[in-house]
Amino acid sequence: MLFKQRFIKSMSFALCAGAIAAASSMAQANTFRIAVGDGAGGTQHELGLKFSEEFNARTDGKHDTKMFLNGQLGDEQATINDASMGLLDFSILAINNVTPFSPSVGVLTLPYMVQSLDDAVELTQGEVGQQLVDNTIRDAGVRIVGWAYSGFRVLTNSKKPVQSLADLEGLKVRVPSNEIMIDTYRAWGINPTPMAWSETFTGLQLGVVDGQDNPYITVSAMKFDEVQKYITNIRYLFSIEPLIVSEAVFQSQPDDVQKAILDAGQAATEHSAEWLVEQEDKIKAELTAGGMEITEPANGEKEWMEKAVNQVWPKYYEQLGGKDKLNSILQSLGRDTI
Ligand code: MLT
Repeated sequence: MLFKQRFIKSMSFALCAGAIAAASSMAQANTFRIAVGDGAGGTQHELGLKFSEEFNARTDGKHDTKMFLNGQLGDEQATINDASMGLLDFSILAINNVTPFSPSVGVLTLPYMVQSLDDAVELTQGEVGQQLVDNTIRDAGVRIVGWAYSGFRVLTNSKKPVQSLADLEGLKVRVPSNEIMIDTYRAWGINPTPMAWSETFTGLQLGVVDGQDNPYITVSAMKFDEVQKYITNIRYLFSIEPLIVSEAVFQSQPDDVQKAILDAGQAATEHSAEWLVEQEDKIKAELTAGGMEITEPANGEKEWMEKAVNQVWPKYYEQLGGKDKLNSILQSLGRDTI
């Protein structure tokens, strides 16, 4: 993680002049490029569609966007580097792929921190969300201007129904390169396989890994149902997927365009929450109709939650601003403190 942060910082200084030149040339361009990690029909795509429509309308048709789906502009983590250097305008990616560059956003990937859509909205739209936006500009050179809400990351695999932690034994599970998620699987008793998002479908198809976790809507948008059979309905991580803009590109825009970006991002965020509620059950039903089997975790997921919270949270208190900070977040969600 430190390497990635240093890489961004040193590259940002080295390429500062180039970034400013690139950004100012983009200021005249009226088509902004948006990298999208997922395929068509997912929450990232929907956020991008709504953002693009609103941005175009709010600039009286002067500016528009072009989305590049399925990681065509690079793996999600690589798009952060590109945007930080002013080489890419926008990216929509999962928050877990932002954390390595902006550690404080890890609060959104702490297992069982976000327990509902309401929690996700409260954390991203309130004071905590604004701090995360500010920290991410400072640490990664990109500004979060919108949030997609994608639902809980359920575990899928091609081998067997998984109900208890004991059932995980022997499964090769892909995770993003995110320390908190890696530690969560270790707390659950297995060593997961970190793999870039752009390689995950092929990894599952070729049997390099047996399983992965992502929301129902993402499983469908990425066509994982073609290579996965079993779903375990765990709720350890509610997936939140920000729309980021290169800070260099943002700062090179006139005030009215900056305002249009922020307002379009807010409108797209609000739409995302509504869209998730409309779509999630329908897509879950489609996946089961197509042959996927859903298993509920044993004992209301008690063992999964206890192991993750007891073993993972203490390791990240410092990185996430201390125990007091986490307690104030828990209180804002109406939950017991630690
Ligand atoms: C990942 O698993 O790397 C991401 O959550 C995928 C995504 O962006 O949907």
